[in-house]
Amino acid sequence: MCGIVGYVGKHSCAEILLGTLEKLEYRGYDSAGIAVFDHDNIEVRKAQGRLKNLRERMEKDGVPSGVAGIGHTRWATHGEPSDINSHPHNGGNVTIVHNGIIENYKEIKNFLIGKGRHFVSQTDTEVAAQLLDYYYNGDPIEAIVETMHNVRGSFALGIMFKDFPGTVFAVRKESPLIVGIGAEESFIASDVTAILNYTRDYYLLEPNEIAVLSPYGTNIYDLHYNKLSKPLMHADWDENAAEKQGYAHFMLKEIHEQPEAVKTTIRSRITDGLPDLEECGITLEMLRGFRNIHVVACGTAMHAGLVGKYIIEELARVPVNVDIASEFRYRDPLVTKDDLVIIISQSGETADSLAALRLSKELGAKTLAIVNAKGSSIAREADMLIYTLAGPEIAVASTKAYMVQISVMYLLAFSIALANGAINEDKCRELTAELVKMPERIEKAVQLEENSQYAASTLVNAESLLYIGRGLDYALSMEGSLKLKEISYIHSESYAAGELKHGTISLITEGMPAIAVVTQKRLVEKTVSNMKEMKARGAYVIAVCAEGISIESDAADYIISLDECPDILAPMTAVVPLQLIAYYTSVLKGNDVDKPRNLAKSVTVE
Ligand code: F6R
Repeated sequence: MCGIVGYVGKHSCAEILLGTLEKLEYRGYDSAGIAVFDHDNIEVRKAQGRLKNLRERMEKDGVPSGVAGIGHTRWATHGEPSDINSHPHNGGNVTIVHNGIIENYKEIKNFLIGKGRHFVSQTDTEVAAQLLDYYYNGDPIEAIVETMHNVRGSFALGIMFKDFPGTVFAVRKESPLIVGIGAEESFIASDVTAILNYTRDYYLLEPNEIAVLSPYGTNIYDLHYNKLSKPLMHADWDENAAEKQGYAHFMLKEIHEQPEAVKTTIRSRITDGLPDLEECGITLEMLRGFRNIHVVACGTAMHAGLVGKYIIEELARVPVNVDIASEFRYRDPLVTKDDLVIIISQSGETADSLAALRLSKELGAKTLAIVNAKGSSIAREADMLIYTLAGPEIAVASTKAYMVQISVMYLLAFSIALANGAINEDKCRELTAELVKMPERIEKAVQLEENSQYAASTLVNAESLLYIGRGLDYALSMEGSLKLKEISYIHSESYAAGELKHGTISLITEGMPAIAVVTQKRLVEKTVSNMKEMKARGAYVIAVCAEGISIESDAADYIISLDECPDILAPMTAVVPLQLIAYYTSVLKGNDVDKPRNLAKSVTVE
């Protein structure tokens, strides 16, 4: 939520700040701004809307020249998107950009108003800027330390002090921030993808660490002014991974990247035909004997957990609860030291998932994180960690991250089942061999792009639609429905097919579209009956089914048929048309596919 960047070097930085912000627009895009030291002055340009509005503003008001500055792309939390509420914000001697939330901003604002200060915006950011200025007495670090002692919340700040031209300060509490180190230049950024065009070397700033980027070098301090020596990290992500490379949208590119992403994620975790998580430091012994497994996550990652529930319960016969992280953390959950809690997160920074992880640890459970972003908070804090190796996911609507998350769930399910003796080695080998074939099958599903495009054309004018399925197909239909809602803005519901008759079927009117996922052979007849019931009431039914499943014309109007694969692995192929249907519906509606309204990719606030 919100992206922040900063630059100190030898080059004129306005364009560098805009270029790095472009890479962070997925974190928020309702306004943007930069502040640059122009000699002794801090020049600020900001504008509501996308970065192009900021560029236009700069064409009109002039591009600030200078070699040090900070920038911001916003996802509004306090105060509507407007020029005034856009960052950077000023508080006298101090200009800042901010990602996250200052929870006690009201209290601080009242305190500062009592001291005679005035505010021009509705943001918590301006409060932080004014507080920094209030504590500023010529020593920036002292002001930052004092501020950190008095603000609560989850946030990261990029800061410039008028009296220190050419120097950028940064600090964080929870919200991610990295410090990039290039040749005679340094950066701050919410995410390493922002700076890949300039450098791959970076420091991970920990909570309560202060970075000072000056023309004379970059240093990091703790709140006691101790200079820290930290390991320099190296990003091995290909810089092209964060470019569209000829695709119309990142989402489409990422859908196409799925076969490769799965291959990369599973390849090094299979030895002699069996799952082998030892490269992640996880042995079979560590997965044995848990009484309950809880999978906790948000949104699409939670849907990956639902697939995990079905497969772990089926293969390993261990009860699995899937929880929405924001519910789990406030529900006093029944988690004990005999339980395993699996946290799934692409970004590794989702505030609720991180809180759920910490709570699980407090409750004594063993925790295992499935995370895509290297070095993220969830990755660092979990007892066990399996990285999904999807490379950066830029589109706000998650596709390849979901695919690799479920790939890891398969590896885990096979391993837990083997560890508990619920399946023998032969069965495990057989399942693993089928998993290895999945990238090829996913590729074939991606090639059905035109069929999905056609299906999308039948939905584009719908006001509402239903997704149905049973078992794993139900888990999948939830993901299909979320994807469509996110980017097409068409309302949809996903329903367990057998549950329709208990109320929801009353929504069906002539021509209403419905998407049925039918891949589980033992459930086909049941789901097909439900499709017929919908069709008899006027629904236009699209079926996404596995090859070999025959669906009569009184059950579906349009069928997308996938390659044959074992039922248990079918979510990996069946999700692809659901993603493509959502994608093309959004394209046909003329929506901004990669940056859907009101959303941001990394949800670092509650
Ligand atoms: C939907 C989507 C979100 C995320 C959710 C969790 O396409 O991307 O629902 O899945 O916000 O994010 P992570 O995985 O970063 O914890």
